[in-house]
Amino acid sequence: SNSMLIDPFGRTIDYLRISVTDRCDFRCTYCMDEDANFLPRRDILSLEEIVQVATSFVELGTRKIRITGGEPLVRKDILWALEQIAALPGLDELTITTNGSQLEKMGQQLFDAGVSRINISLDTLKRERFEELTRRDKLEQVLRGIETVSALPFKQLKLNAVILGGHNDDEIEDLVEYALAHKMDISFIEEMPLGQISHHDRAKVYISSDELRERLSQRWQLSASERSTGGPSRYFNIAGETQQIGFISPHSHNFCSTCNRVRLTAEGRLLMCLGNEHSKDLKAVMRAHPENVELLKQTIIDSLVLKPEKHHFNLEEEPQILRFMSATGG
Ligand code: GTP
Ligand code: 5AD
Ligand code: SF4
Repeated sequence: SNSMLIDPFGRTIDYLRISVTDRCDFRCTYCMDEDANFLPRRDILSLEEIVQVATSFVELGTRKIRITGGEPLVRKDILWALEQIAALPGLDELTITTNGSQLEKMGQQLFDAGVSRINISLDTLKRERFEELTRRDKLEQVLRGIETVSALPFKQLKLNAVILGGHNDDEIEDLVEYALAHKMDISFIEEMPLGQISHHDRAKVYISSDELRERLSQRWQLSASERSTGGPSRYFNIAGETQQIGFISPHSHNFCSTCNRVRLTAEGRLLMCLGNEHSKDLKAVMRAHPENVELLKQTIIDSLVLKPEKHHFNLEEEPQILRFMSATGG
């Protein structure tokens, strides 16, 4: 990679995640409470500002951009921003992480805008449980969205399932079957202690990726894969299938040593690590010097010294990170 962004630990940063809104039409219990507060409009970056940051990153060598939220597809005019970003010369892929609620309506437009891969959150296939986990009765809408994008020629589709012991761990086999039937990969995620939630005790529902993998191995023959999407997932091949199962294991398999990413929060902070608060306020720089692209790029380069070596998630302690996943897009 020709990225000009290298951190003090020698890690090349060529992947940018952009949260385009902290708002969401769901209220997943592990992500936020029902009465979540959202940022006032003036505090979040305009789409023009977001495109400016993306442009600067790509000029500095970034090859992959993932758009997240909150729910990115509830942001007004998001397709315009996606088109601008997808067209940046030098960018290999524009990807998006979504809860799926808008895919039935927007799937085709996302493809036309130049999105190449989509990750869709799906933690359960049971309607009542979906409503319990997301606090919204929208399973059918999400499943229709998945059908819509499955029929389109996206390069890759992946499901993300956060597994909470005693809540949805009995569905991991069904979720794999569903993913295989739709020609999708699936990643199982260990919950991260971001923000204070009231729904469950995070230490009590913890279930390790290794335990899930052992259970899945009783049904499928799994073998470790070399493949990486440049994300934290460790992938396994399934004998007889082309799709893969991934595990994102912030607690049991720390992946920080290969971290290749930084995040732009909805309010324009460049966040160096999901599990730390080190950040640079790019919004302040852009608003003080709106036309000065060189200053923005230099600020981005300089901010890399702030990138910490790793996160220190500890389920036994009160959450150290008070910000919710929705502000940073995971
Ligand atoms: P691809 O590899 O491109 O498919 O994406 P991804 O798995 O990196 O991204 P996605 O948005 O689907 O996120 C899946 C999960 O990975 C979410 O729970 C994220 O919070 C988590 N994740 C992504 N990057 C990091 C990271 O740097 N640190 C930690 N702790 N978690 C991460
Ligand atoms: N821990 C782990 N994953 C989370 N997500 C949201 N909150 C958390 C959390 N506390 C997941 C969503 C989505 C992805 C972007 O992050 O389910 O798949
Ligand atoms: Fe919304 Fe995603 Fe958070 Fe669920 S996890 S509330 S879909 S931002």
